[in-house]
Amino acid sequence: MAKVVAFFNHKGGVGKTTILFNVAIALAQVGKKVILFDADSQANLTALAVTEEQYQESLDKEITIWSALEPLVTGAGDFKYVEPLSLRSNLWLVPGDIRLADFEGICPTGWTEALAGEARGFRVTTALYRLFQQTANIKSADFVLIDLGPNVNALNRNALISSDGFIIPLAADLFSVRALPSVGYSIANWVRQWHTALKNKPKTVTFELPTCESVPIPLGYVSQQFSVFSSSPAEAFRVWQDKIPVAYQEGVVFPLKAIKLPVNEQETEPLIALKYLSSLVPKAQQAHKAIFELNGSEARGAHFKRSKDTREIFLKLAKIIISRLENAL
Ligand SMILES: Nc1ncnc2c1ncn2[C@@H]1O[C@H](COP(=O)(O)OP(=O)(O)OP(=O)(O)O)[C@@H](O)[C@H]1O
Ligand SMILES: [Mg+2]
Repeated sequence: MAKVVAFFNHKGGVGKTTILFNVAIALAQVGKKVILFDADSQANLTALAVTEEQYQESLDKEITIWSALEPLVTGAGDFKYVEPLSLRSNLWLVPGDIRLADFEGICPTGWTEALAGEARGFRVTTALYRLFQQTANIKSADFVLIDLGPNVNALNRNALISSDGFIIPLAADLFSVRALPSVGYSIANWVRQWHTALKNKPKTVTFELPTCESVPIPLGYVSQQFSVFSSSPAEAFRVWQDKIPVAYQEGVVFPLKAIKLPVNEQETEPLIALKYLSSLVPKAQQAHKAIFELNGSEARGAHFKRSKDTREIFLKLAKIIISRLENAL
């Protein structure tokens, strides 16, 4: 079965989408088959991955994440398979859609109904899980990467209980440090509640469900490294950067250890140190490429070297994801 990895932080604008897209290309380049799901109604991942024309074509052909989930919203039936867009060798995308907000709208009731042991609640709450798994099976994928919006909402809850692991992108600032305890608290709470729901599962529910036994594994966090600057702002960022390991341990590791998830208490440093990459980021967006895929005319001179250097960083993150999750692949 494919391994599902969510990129989650309810703090917005911390690099979730950018890191996901770049590490996905690194995973595909080392030979893993990867499917991306844009589960954020902002659809930023889709805008990064494909041109406007390609996106319009997906909307016209009704092959976005909304089209997959729409039958549950209209009451027409269960989710349906949509053919993912091929982005590269080994890499596909199920595009995002602003109308995903309508599916988000039925998730809170679905959760309450699942806790009350009602079959419809299980159908709605596990729709993302079953969609991820079915799509991965059809494409023989090794990994499914999920891009989520910056919310602690019921859609993200459904995505997290469907995941084998999650990564927390964050920035070196007060807001990210403060966000960590709510990330840990939310996930611990969601997993605990899901275990309660599973105890109430009615006999009529025969489809496969996420068990949340020893998952989702907290794989760690990725911190933007602003200390590359030698001027005064670097010091200001470092104050917050230095607080992150303890905030991660207390806010995420301990609450998840308390619900018996496999955490590594010693691992409190960032998985990778990602530098502030200034204009390389918008250039890569324009070209719908990973930062390290930019060519000599898209990034010149020292910028070109900086773009190529990020390949090692994203390969490192790809290898961490593989080594932490591959045992059961
Ligand atoms: N390493 C980087 N260097 C410079 N700019 C970056 C870097 N990573 C991301 N950015 C920029 O920061 C902004 C936020 O990035 P991104 O959209 O990936 O964050 P996000 O966490 O997915 O946001 P949201 O919470 O809205 O989904 C974007 O404008 C992006 O271009
Ligand atoms: Mg995003």
